[in-house]
Amino acid sequence: MHKMVRNGIDTAQRSNLESLDIKSLAHYSLRNDGFIAFNGHDGKSVSDDGSFEQLVDAFAHLPPDPYNKGLGRFRRYSRAVILPWMRHLSWMPPCERSIEEPQSEYDQGSHNPEYLGVRRTFPALAAELCANRLLNALIWQDYDLTFWSARDLRLPVHVGVHMMKLMVTEPGSRAISSPNMLHQDGEPFTFVHLIGRKNVIGGVNVIAPPMYTGLHPEELHPQAITARFELVQPLESYGVHDPQVSHYVGAVHQLDLSRPAERSVLLIDFAVMAVVL
Ligand SMILES: [Fe+2]
Repeated sequence: MHKMVRNGIDTAQRSNLESLDIKSLAHYSLRNDGFIAFNGHDGKSVSDDGSFEQLVDAFAHLPPDPYNKGLGRFRRYSRAVILPWMRHLSWMPPCERSIEEPQSEYDQGSHNPEYLGVRRTFPALAAELCANRLLNALIWQDYDLTFWSARDLRLPVHVGVHMMKLMVTEPGSRAISSPNMLHQDGEPFTFVHLIGRKNVIGGVNVIAPPMYTGLHPEELHPQAITARFELVQPLESYGVHDPQVSHYVGAVHQLDLSRPAERSVLLIDFAVMAVVL
């Protein structure tokens, strides 16, 4: 069992979401603390029908981040829409700027100072992966932890799905996430699910109050940090309610310098789609 440190207290416990009581507790934590750490496999084996293995295989063949080539970041991104009143999810078609393979647009607006105002495009998830049972179960499990106003529940919800791998192959090198600082994403809810972690030192997650956005966690007094933990086992997960917290993931390094280090995560975010008239 990995160690989670929260407000200076080791809590080494992470709930899975197999019972309704735990689900309500998780929902309560996300609403009141702005974040929740949990096991995402719903109490079942992660590989009972091959859907976990399909995800692992897709992560093994991720293309390099086109905005970060050679720096150890690999990713795909696709977008979907949930109609809450029908409990229906539909994947959006790829954008028109597709060149070699289908692409999805991604715009963080002012929330990523490394790509201010840049509308990036990333290779989309393959159609067969969009149908992956485990991926869809995770999306719905995460969505069921979110909370919305009655007005929001009458609007479609945008779902962003990132496959993100940090990989180090050069001894002594490192791979970093963007932005490399405490930040907020802009989407009201983001969930992170570990798919794989091999030969890694680092990849430490930090949660802090939103006032520390823009700072590196090392610049904060330890007491100012809300939680510091690592995702170690497959489908260990955490989620944030973005307005209440800032978050960060640290650089990935090799444990054994003769082998690559890899950290693969699924990121799933939710935002209401507002009508612009
Ligand atoms: Fe983020």
